[in-house]
Amino acid sequence: MRKPLIVANWKMYNTVSEASFLVEELIGKIGDISSVEVAIAPPFTALEAVSKILSETDLTLAAQNMYWERAGAFTGEISPVMLRDLTCRFVILGHSERRQFFGDGDGEVALKVEAALAEGLIPILCVGETLGEREYRKTFEVVERQIRGALDGGMPDSGGALIIAYEPIWAIGTGKTASPEAAQEVHCFIRRLLENLLGKGPGGEVRILYGGSVKPDNVRGLMEMQDIDGALVGGASLDAESFTRIVHFK
Ligand code: 13P
Repeated sequence: MRKPLIVANWKMYNTVSEASFLVEELIGKIGDISSVEVAIAPPFTALEAVSKILSETDLTLAAQNMYWERAGAFTGEISPVMLRDLTCRFVILGHSERRQFFGDGDGEVALKVEAALAEGLIPILCVGETLGEREYRKTFEVVERQIRGALDGGMPDSGGALIIAYEPIWAIGTGKTASPEAAQEVHCFIRRLLENLLGKGPGGEVRILYGGSVKPDNVRGLMEMQDIDGALVGGASLDAESFTRIVHFK
């Protein structure tokens, strides 16, 4: 059984005080949940404050990126050791905004995935095609290249040690969501690929999240699909009411 996982990716939003306020509000609204796992990915500067607030709850902490070295002369970077130190359980890697604006390619993502796994962080590996690639029917090819590339440095030793997030780029921040059936088609393809790469058992345990304009009114349809195990939520995670409704999708 794969427990549903809903992740809030706050991107570059919220100062420390705004983050603290939002997370307190979320905790109050979400209440006790045992059937869904919830993680919050604030910007680096708010990780410590959010970590302290989450420590008394079942919600977990995620980072939005990291560098692959454990320590060293790498000005401006954050290491997996530092993220573990702040109690992060997950780290988002290979997000399309990182790939698009900061030069993260499959090679860099592979080094990061390998380093995260070595440190006991669970990578949330993001993959997804552009609109042009979809129109040219390249979705499967792109997603396969991204996943094979990211796992080039090493495989997780169990299905639970890896999360994949399928985020079609044309659906991010646009209000256009993939239909549940269209998303499921890609999730199913990813599942078969993971079963090939990791073996049938572990491949069946990896949670595959959908991301791209997930909102309270479309989450349920997506979550009903067999291989959609959760959501990576951007815009709607910045509002406590919307995110709570997403978490309580059932
Ligand atoms: P939106 O939910 O704002 O489309 O963002 C999706 C995303 O990029 C999550 O990582």
